[in-house]
Order: sequence, then C-alpha cells, then structure tokens
Amino acid sequence: MEMNIIKLHLGAFISYLYRKYVQKKDLSGNYPVPLKDKTVRKVLKKNKILTTDGRCSWWYTAYVGDRNSCDPISHWAMSYTIDNINKDSRIFATGCGTGWFLLFLAEKGYQNLYGSDIMPECINALKEFTQIKQYNIDSWEDNGFNPSRIPEECDVIFVLHWIFSAWMGNYSDKNNGYSDMDGEYLLDDFIKKYHKSIKKGGVMFLELIDKLSDYYNVDVDAYPIRHTYETVNKVVNKYGFDIIDRCVGHSHKIRVVYVLKKRDFVEHIKSN
Ligand SMILES: C[S@@+](CC[C@H](N)C(=O)[O-])C[C@H]1O[C@@H](n2cnc3c(N)ncnc32)[C@H](O)[C@@H]1O
Repeated sequence: MEMNIIKLHLGAFISYLYRKYVQKKDLSGNYPVPLKDKTVRKVLKKNKILTTDGRCSWWYTAYVGDRNSCDPISHWAMSYTIDNINKDSRIFATGCGTGWFLLFLAEKGYQNLYGSDIMPECINALKEFTQIKQYNIDSWEDNGFNPSRIPEECDVIFVLHWIFSAWMGNYSDKNNGYSDMDGEYLLDDFIKKYHKSIKKGGVMFLELIDKLSDYYNVDVDAYPIRHTYETVNKVVNKYGFDIIDRCVGHSHKIRVVYVLKKRDFVEHIKSN
C-alpha cells in the first residue's frame, strides 16, 4: 500500500475513534459506499485517478472519508433525498465524478439513476463500480456546461460540488475563461440549459460558493465565482423554480446547497 494511503487510513481511523469515544458522536449518520476499499483503490488506480501529484486523489478521499463520512452538506443532500424523493424517481447527477452518491442511492433502492462527468477516467471508474455491484446506473462522458444529453422529465437533478470549481477552470476544463465572468450571468446560463428537463414539482440540488466567502478565510484564494441568496433567488425564479430549502457548510470557503423546486414550465424562456 502506498505511504499516503496508509497515512490517510490511519488518520481516518484516529478521527473515527476520537468522534466515537471522545466526542461520543452518533456515527450512524455516515453514508458509506457499498464497495470494499480494496476494490475502490484497484478501480481508481486502473483509471489513473487514485493519486494526483503523488497524493491521494480527491476521488479516493471522497470514497473513504471526505464526501461520504465527514462532509455535512453532502450528508444533508443525501438524507434530504432519502426522506423526500421516491425510489422510482428519475435522478440525474451532473459532474458526478466517480459517482459515490449514485452508488449510495442505488444501494438504498433507487432504480432510475443517471450520471455524467467531463472526465472519461471518472466515468470509466463509475461504469466498473456499477458493473461490480450490478446496479442500474446509466453514465456517460459530457461537458456539463454544454451538455449533449440530459435525460427528459427528471424528478431530480444534482449539481453537487462541481460548478464553482469548474468555473475556476479545474480538472480537464482548464482555461475555459469563466473565472472572470459575472456570477449571475454564469448561473443564468447554467440553469437555462437544464430547467426544461425537470418536471413540475421536481427539484434541483445546486451547490454554490456563497458571497460571504469574500470575508472568510481571505488568505485562500479559491472559487472566485460566488453568489448571494438574492442573486440565486432572482435567477432561479426566472426559470420557474422556488428555493424551498438550503444547507450552509464551510471548509475554506462557505458552501451552500440550495433545493430548488420547479413550479411550472416557463414557456417564454428560450433554452439557448
Ligand atoms: C470535486 S468533484 C465532485 C464530484 C461529485 N459531484 C461529488 O459531489 O462527489 C468535481 C467533478 O466535476 C467534474 N467536472 C469538472 N468540469 C466539468 C464539466 N465542465 N462538466 C462536467 N463535469 C465536470 C470533474 O471531472 C470532477 O469529477
């Protein structure tokens, strides 16, 4: 096992003991993916995304801890889904990465799952996981800012933990020129592409960086495209959505997951 991976597991184990025995926290809120760690490592390694620059990759830490056991706003989005969304709903995850939350939802009995991501490495890994678990998840490579395929009549579209970082030009969409553009314009352009694919009464989970981050940990210069509640409300209202809930979390910036509910189709809005 590589040294960084040993360190990561040791760190995760110590943190687990600390939370369980010192903080006496109920750890049943964790959202594990139904895959053995050995399998996750093997598949990610084969697809060259187990490590980046000699360190554990984001996608690996997402499986073993970061996203599925110690990120409160992704937990919130998952429990919100389980509590409110029927098992036969059509659920589409944009920028889904290697799809840990699609695998989690599949394990919980959701049958109608779709995911796309710009990185073929991620989609290939998700396809392998899907095959291993014999789940029904349809996944494909796509640029979420200019999608070639969006499933019709979705009950749920997830936009979790990717657009704010992709607007900055992370991953394989570097130098896309978005980071200097106006946040309201970019959000409008994004919602315009997807709003017609969500059913009346359906929801979009949309994760953004809050403008309050301008005053928070100013030493970390990341994710320059940020939004206020008012801007989000203005844009999504235009496309027939209401903000019905939100969860605020923070790491080095303040992140918000909004739940947007579709009131009705808004016929007067052109899709492009
Ligand atoms: C930090 S990961 C988050 C993955 C997943 N959404 C989650 O919450 O666990 C960001 C993902 O966004 C993807 N991504 C970046 N730019 C994209 C684009 N233009 N279209 C689709 N996916 C993109 C990356 O390939 C990466 O897998």
